[in-house]
Amino acid sequence: MDELIFSRRGVLKFAAAAAISGTAGRLFAETNIINNNIRKDKIMDMNSFAGAYENGQYTLPELPYEYDALEPLYDEETVRIHHDKHHAKYVKGFNEALSKLESARKSNDYTQIQAISNALAFNGSGHILHTLFWHSMKPGGNEGKIPSDFKTALDESFGSSNAAMQQFAAASKAVESNGWGILAFEPVSQKLLILQCEKHQNLTIWGVVPVLVCDVWEHAHYLKFQNDRAKWVDNFMKLANWEFAAHRLEEARSASAALRG
Ligand SMILES: [Fe+2]
Repeated sequence: MDELIFSRRGVLKFAAAAAISGTAGRLFAETNIINNNIRKDKIMDMNSFAGAYENGQYTLPELPYEYDALEPLYDEETVRIHHDKHHAKYVKGFNEALSKLESARKSNDYTQIQAISNALAFNGSGHILHTLFWHSMKPGGNEGKIPSDFKTALDESFGSSNAAMQQFAAASKAVESNGWGILAFEPVSQKLLILQCEKHQNLTIWGVVPVLVCDVWEHAHYLKFQNDRAKWVDNFMKLANWEFAAHRLEEARSASAALRG
């Protein structure tokens, strides 16, 4: 494998080829036997979700750097426990929730649907957000340098990159209790937004793309169905536009393919 260790340009070229050919997972495994610094670059440049889902199961991805690589700003022991214990628990819970849902479908028994859906969202969001979190840091940071295209995006969305950083730090510090500060792309405006996420278990998984939605707020059904939400949902299911859902799925698949590298 030594011939792979030439230069950053070579690494990037290799990563791009891997992304195009869809062999990121295999290459991820191969990189384990080469120099750590190269491994870091390849994973971070290639696919932030490498190792997060394999063979039909969500899996704990390796850190894209060594446990102590973020010292002294983020200590080795915390990183080790955070990744090996906390993140791993989300992965386990995500798979367990999916397994329970499979059993519920087979038996047509949805009496536990609320608890299982809650577990799905809590663990699913935990897994996705932590996977992004590890890649959101880099040993030594970027020494304050922001890629010029991204700086332009920050300027357009927030007035200036400095304002964006100030807002991101302020929003993250002010999150009530547990949660996340999140810089996100909003596809309708094509701009960036900064969000506070107070509880990631609030019944969604960050990163999902809606393909069909049913409004169950009272304003959606109260005039005709009053408090009979079930009747409204049954009617919605008869109105559901599966062609639109298929179109959205196609859009989401092509967008996510680009995001996964
Ligand atoms: Fe965490």
